[in-house]
Amino acid sequence: MKAAHIAEHTSPLNAEQASQLTMLIQSLTSTQVTWISGYLSGINAHAAVGEVVSPTAAPAAAASAVQPITILYGSQTGNAEDIAEQLAARAEAAGLSANAVDMLDYKPRDLKKEQNIVICVSTHGEGDPPDNAEELYEFVFGKKAPKLEGVNFSVLAFGDTSYEHFCQTGKDFDAQLEKLGATRVVDRLDLDVDFDDPVENWMDQTVSVFKDKLGGSTPAAHANVTAMPSATSAPAEQAYSRKNPYQAEVLTNVVLNGRGSDKEVHHLELDIEDSGLVWEPGDSLGIIPANDPQVVSELIAALGASVDEQVTGIDGEVSLEHALTHQYEITTLTRPFVEKYAERAGNDELSALLGDDQREPFAAYLDGRFIVDLVEDYPITGVTGGDFVRLLRKLPPRLYSIASSYAANPDEVHLTVAAVRYNRHGRDRHGVASVQLADRSGDANLPIYIDANKNFKLPADDAPIVMIGPGTGVAPFRAFLEEREEREATGKNWLFFGAQHFRTDFYYQTDWLRWRDDGLLTRMDVAFSRDQAEKVYVQDKIRAAGKELFDWIEQGATVYVCGDANAMAADVHDALIELIGEYGKLDGEGAAGYLKTLQKEKRYQRDVY
Ligand SMILES: Cc1cc2nc3c(=O)[nH]c(=O)nc-3n(C[C@H](O)[C@H](O)[C@H](O)COP(=O)(O)OP(=O)(O)OC[C@H]3O[C@@H](n4cnc5c(N)ncnc54)[C@H](O)[C@@H]3O)c2cc1C
Ligand SMILES: Cc1cc2nc3c(=O)[nH]c(=O)nc-3n(C[C@H](O)[C@H](O)[C@H](O)COP(=O)(O)O)c2cc1C
Repeated sequence: MKAAHIAEHTSPLNAEQASQLTMLIQSLTSTQVTWISGYLSGINAHAAVGEVVSPTAAPAAAASAVQPITILYGSQTGNAEDIAEQLAARAEAAGLSANAVDMLDYKPRDLKKEQNIVICVSTHGEGDPPDNAEELYEFVFGKKAPKLEGVNFSVLAFGDTSYEHFCQTGKDFDAQLEKLGATRVVDRLDLDVDFDDPVENWMDQTVSVFKDKLGGSTPAAHANVTAMPSATSAPAEQAYSRKNPYQAEVLTNVVLNGRGSDKEVHHLELDIEDSGLVWEPGDSLGIIPANDPQVVSELIAALGASVDEQVTGIDGEVSLEHALTHQYEITTLTRPFVEKYAERAGNDELSALLGDDQREPFAAYLDGRFIVDLVEDYPITGVTGGDFVRLLRKLPPRLYSIASSYAANPDEVHLTVAAVRYNRHGRDRHGVASVQLADRSGDANLPIYIDANKNFKLPADDAPIVMIGPGTGVAPFRAFLEEREEREATGKNWLFFGAQHFRTDFYYQTDWLRWRDDGLLTRMDVAFSRDQAEKVYVQDKIRAAGKELFDWIEQGATVYVCGDANAMAADVHDALIELIGEYGKLDGEGAAGYLKTLQKEKRYQRDVY
């Protein structure tokens, strides 16, 4: 729309205002335009009754004859969120009214006002909800959960079959909504890491079922997006994606540990000049890995197959060797794979191991074994390479926190990668992607894409931040500080870092020291666990920081935690609650509530793996 056109048709604006408005409109995404339309109609409605409207308030619903569908997403790394947004767009394109809403921004008590709910939720931890789903999850299982008779619902569950509690959070929501009286209109779909195709069919089916139930009118007439995507956190439009990755060359690969360390952490720099890839601090890099050639040949030998055998792979005919190297997961053993394999093998002992009464022995068998071990332990006679690949799942991408700032250096992306190497059941074993990056990344270009994470984002430039990142968890904080240095951000910065030894494991020491000397890094606390008789971890340093850390939080600091999900994240969480309790003079429940409020305000953000 031209400025003159606006000025002509909206007489209260002068030419300069019209020009500014034009520029603003042109800079907006379609979702933002939709939000503003809703917001303005909300202002009109409120103005008519003399109310003051807060600019952060949700827009009033556009008048609509069609019952809206509320699509609630709980997502840690963005998969469930992406699909929730795609589903909302498709529903609207079909003439329905649909809102994709972050569970964290949703008032659980509003559930009783809903008539149509879709839950898109992943599972994290050990069968736990993602951080932004916790409150709604607790609410639906709590005493205040409303009766949901007459409500239509459906659940889309994201997970990974290599975890024991596959899609547990989605399963829990599904069962509980039914228990509360809601009517399941589309069956729950449990998605493994390779979800692209199954999710397409499910979305089509869901839109069509709701369309049949609710009718709907002209497409896009009822857009009603509850949360305004922030300009800083809206993912940039990328030319490359998981399905269409960019081929990046590795420019630098150095080990960050000194001689004698038990750890092997690599710093990698990838050339992305001219790729058009854009990211923000807190985003991750997705890597589509390739399997280790040695593991591929061991598997082909165990099968008694030929490397050159032509098989039907993911995109058509390829050699067995190519399929096993680039297309399928051939290391991690999952229950669905063993079930399919056992059926094909017709082996009674293996079938018995899959019985419901054998959960523990089965988990013990999986632990530390690869697919090749199963093939050797329970061989199938006469299996072809083609038969075998049909049992496998697609090789999933791996994510790595980006350790550099686009604003500071748009031509390179830096990573901090711990090589996974161990020996179990008499075999040396390697993590697929980390060891490819460590040992073989100079061989060929790496297929990569940006995996945006809007739940791990810097606050305003003048706000203080506390970064807790032991081990490779420090990676995004290097990006945070590069970014803040580039932007000349005035907010204070405090880093907690931990590793085994000061001498060998102090990753990016020179960067932190330079930033501390320059005054950018206001404070740094380090915990080297094995440099003294008593082990010391970041959570001990958090407790020791006491009042000063609490004061930072009270002054508006955002607290970030990145790294190990198994022990560290929970220990740090407990230490924060203790500290808040002590200095905020709150009991355990009060302190946990305080931290939960910080989380809701996006002032407690975690990216743990
Ligand atoms: C959002 C996000 C950000 C991440 N950022 C980083 C990062 O910055 N740096 C980083 O290094 N990693 C990071 N990771 C982890 C990374 O994505 C990979 O999971 C990790 O590198 C392992 O992948 P891999 O392919 O090498 O190993 P895989 O082939 O996936 O094998 C790993 C599996 O091996 C098994 N295993 C490992 N050790 C043992 C053992 N001793 N005994 C028995 N079994 C074992 C476990 O089952 C483990 O799950 C991140 C993950 C996420 C989700
Ligand atoms: C630290 C971590 C723990 C996970 N735990 C589980 C689990 O217990 N069960 C499961 O099915 N999937 C688990 N997953 C897999 C995720 O659910 C899966 O990757 C999903 O696609 C993520 O969706 P999201 O990006 O919306 O969070 C886990 C993933 C991570 C990184």
